[in-house]
Amino acid sequence: MNSGESTLNEKQLAHYDRDYYAFRSIWPPLFRFFERDFPNGDFHLLDVGGGAGRFADYLLARYPASCATVLDMSPRLLERNRPDVRKWLMLGDAIRLDELHLSRDIDVVSFNFVLHHLLARDEVSSRRLRCGVLRQAARLLRKGGRILIIEPLYHGMLHEDLPSIMIYRLTRSRCLAPLVKRLGSTTAGCGVLFQSRKSWRRMFTRAGLEVNDSYICGAWEINPLYKIGLNIASVRTGLFWCAPGRSDWR
Ligand SMILES: C[S@@+](CC[C@H](N)C(=O)[O-])C[C@H]1O[C@@H](n2cnc3c(N)ncnc32)[C@H](O)[C@@H]1O
Repeated sequence: MNSGESTLNEKQLAHYDRDYYAFRSIWPPLFRFFERDFPNGDFHLLDVGGGAGRFADYLLARYPASCATVLDMSPRLLERNRPDVRKWLMLGDAIRLDELHLSRDIDVVSFNFVLHHLLARDEVSSRRLRCGVLRQAARLLRKGGRILIIEPLYHGMLHEDLPSIMIYRLTRSRCLAPLVKRLGSTTAGCGVLFQSRKSWRRMFTRAGLEVNDSYICGAWEINPLYKIGLNIASVRTGLFWCAPGRSDWR
């Protein structure tokens, strides 16, 4: 597998100490996913790129029989986790899940607003890298386990993937970094690669995952100038509840 080239520094990572889950529309479909497959609420969650642990905290509070491992590459974000006897913290790189000697009793591996940060040397190899990470995640699951992916879905006006490619090129450029940073990007100089709904779906299939359930939240409000400049038709939050193909089950 390609090695990753994400070079977010701790100052950039500090921007991610925020609550992405305060918007309510995300929760009813998420609870539906969990409660259908884990009706007793007794699951072990591995939240990859779980940062300051807010997502895990919400689930631990709702499901008293659950436990969670929060994995992140940022010591600073991990330190900001609220202590909980049912929560463990782990410093590590998402692209090397196989090497982290994680316990193989995991019921749900979640990637919440994380996969778009995993980059290799270009767009194609970045998608290949993500696909490999999803395959590694599937190998950690118990039988009946699930993979949850939450991602912003960028959809272009002229071509579905055009905004994602433009944002990638702009944020990846070191020359343009000061300008892109002034325009509000937290990933200026190191890059971010979003994907469209169709592009994620294709990747899940390539990774051997079946989408058991999904939900697309309402459209984000985007500055009209950015919409025109970046050819954005819409940005929505997509939730994908996936199962490994039968051949991937241990
Ligand atoms: C946009 S934040 C989302 C944080 C968290 N999932 C949440 O929803 O609150 C992206 C997170 O991914 C983490 N991250 C990015 N690349 C990573 C990698 N290669 N390995 C582990 N964590 C990574 C960052 O440190 C950060 O916590």
